[in-house]
Amino acid sequence: MRWARHAVPAAVTALAAIAARDLLQREHALRRNFPLLGRARYLLESIGPELRQYIVAGNDEERPFTRDQRRWVYASAKRQNNYFGFGTDNDIEHTAGYPIIKHRTFGRAVPASTPTAGHEVRLPCAKVLGGARDRARAFRPESVVTISGMSFGSLSGPAVEALNRGAAIAGCLHNTGEGGLSRYHRNGGELILQIGTAYFGCRDDRGRFDLARLKDVVAGAPVRALEIKLSQGAKPSLGGLLPAAKVSAEIAAARGIPVGQDCVSPSRHAEFADCDSLLDWVELLAAETGLPVGIKSAVGDLEFWTELTDLMRDTGRGVDFVTIDGGEGGTGAAPLIFTDSVSLPFQLGFARIYPIFAERDLHEQVVFIGSGKLGLPDNAVVAYALGCDMLAVGREAMLAIGCIQAQKCHADTCPTGVATQNAWLTRGLDPASKAVRAAHYVKTLRRDLVKVAEACGVEHPGLIDPDSVEILGGRTSATPLREVYGYRPGWGLPSTADQKAIVELMATEAPQGGSAPPSPTAQR
Ligand SMILES: Cc1cc2nc3c(=O)[nH]c(=O)nc-3n(C[C@H](O)[C@H](O)[C@H](O)COP(=O)(O)O)c2cc1C
Ligand code: SF4
Repeated sequence: MRWARHAVPAAVTALAAIAARDLLQREHALRRNFPLLGRARYLLESIGPELRQYIVAGNDEERPFTRDQRRWVYASAKRQNNYFGFGTDNDIEHTAGYPIIKHRTFGRAVPASTPTAGHEVRLPCAKVLGGARDRARAFRPESVVTISGMSFGSLSGPAVEALNRGAAIAGCLHNTGEGGLSRYHRNGGELILQIGTAYFGCRDDRGRFDLARLKDVVAGAPVRALEIKLSQGAKPSLGGLLPAAKVSAEIAAARGIPVGQDCVSPSRHAEFADCDSLLDWVELLAAETGLPVGIKSAVGDLEFWTELTDLMRDTGRGVDFVTIDGGEGGTGAAPLIFTDSVSLPFQLGFARIYPIFAERDLHEQVVFIGSGKLGLPDNAVVAYALGCDMLAVGREAMLAIGCIQAQKCHADTCPTGVATQNAWLTRGLDPASKAVRAAHYVKTLRRDLVKVAEACGVEHPGLIDPDSVEILGGRTSATPLREVYGYRPGWGLPSTADQKAIVELMATEAPQGGSAPPSPTAQR
């Protein structure tokens, strides 16, 4: 056994060297946090397709995000080849509810054909945020894709920093979430400041909303809009509790609360108690800051929406944007009954709210933002066809910066450092490199949206109408989205003036495809 005397120390030295390399590298949080062990995941991932054929689930079975969906996000974030070979493995013929997008043979726009064309395409919103209500700081968002509200506290500091830097690189807005505006949000990305029931970051010592503090926060950071959070799809009507142990000095500073004490978010706002007082508050915030002001809500009972829109029509007060969050949306932590069963999924919920605005002629004056697994191009296109103007992506952006869907966000043991405050685990997440991934992902999503729009013959996803999508009823039937949800002609699109403006903007932006030069006998 003489060879063993040399081989064992040599193997140990080699493993120690690999472990040291894992610890020091910055590219992979998992390997940094779990030297050697973390490599097993990459190995399993690489032989996953072969293994799955024999023992585990298929490409489309896992939830919330299937393996195919995650593979698309990971590849897009790394700017690797995100194409799929051999054809779809979705059971299109037998899946009721499956959306099919209808391309046009001849259309105004033609998609560019090389895989990388349009990586850097600009994709601004088709509406001016706050324009219809003449807000002093109205603006046209540069990117229809935004990063959804996820607080510092539920996400780690480095994760928030990566998303904010990524937003800066991709030129998209980054929503702070309800946990206040932390130093991690100040890395160049422009912000939507979310105001939740606890008024974190803009509250006084007794937890009451403090307008002067809000104005200070707005003045000290690139805040472009305010979002009043009424509810979130994964846990509507519920407050929350951040336990004392997690209330670090940094979290306390961002939220304006004492260090090391339980931090409670109430389940209702104290500044308004009905639609009338909500609209008063919206107008106050808009007048005091000049910013566009919107609301974020999940969809349950519709009485709130009819009252709100009646008041908007009759009194002239109003919100500048409405974010509809689907019941399939994510959360850091929530009771199972809420994540699984309270509030409508995005498609159904949005298709109930949009008509309520449209019936009162308010739909062209409001920017509609959708969220709930809309960071995947197929879901996003359906959202656009239903009348969305912008998308907010939450968990897909987390996947882009390294989340592996371990679903431990509530336990403070997130292995990739994305959703934990544990110092060892967060040190693995390198904000600089993950920012680039977040930006690649956002840019790829925008590029795919433009390509699909062009395949439908239009220049911008906001111009995809509800007749361009059909919902399969199985193998032998399909119904246009317009019929499924009873949309009237013209619904789902921006106003004629906004359509004209966005077509002009896109004409100078998107790389256009085409054909080879026509032959002398061409019939054109
Ligand atoms: C870890 C985590 C934290 C979140 N924090 C907030 C929050 O502070 N405020 C909020 O309105 N929504 C919050 N959300 C919900 C997301 O903003 C988003 O609405 C939802 O996840 C749906 O988008 P997605 O399917 O792209 O993730 C959170 C979601 C996650 C996963
Ligand atoms: S705990 Fe899992 S699902 Fe949650 S952020 Fe971390 S890797 Fe992602």
